[in-house]
Amino acid sequence: MSITKPLYVKIIDLDNEIHKINFKPNEYSNLMELIINHYYEEIGDCGGRGLCGTCHVQPNQLIGYDIPDLQEIKTLDTLPGRSMSSRLACQIMTNERINKMTFKIINDN
Ligand code: FES
Repeated sequence: MSITKPLYVKIIDLDNEIHKINFKPNEYSNLMELIINHYYEEIGDCGGRGLCGTCHVQPNQLIGYDIPDLQEIKTLDTLPGRSMSSRLACQIMTNERINKMTFKIINDN
């Protein structure tokens, strides 16, 4: 019998508080859903289509083999707080690739 450890991410909120959230692989359709479900409900205006930019996050490292698509890049380009590492949480899958990573929520409003 194998025991699988839960995966986790750390979310840094707008007050710079860190929240550790456990999850199972693909338990949520994306990182935005995980954040909304556990903590922060004021994001996700476009329902995860990569259009609104309200789910802007900055990861603490690159996500292996996960490159933003053209729509995500186009939306990121409209955000004033964008950095080279910026991503849209709704375009990040909740799987092993993000295990133990930290994501800072960015307020572009
Ligand atoms: S929910 Fe709109 S861009 Fe992610």
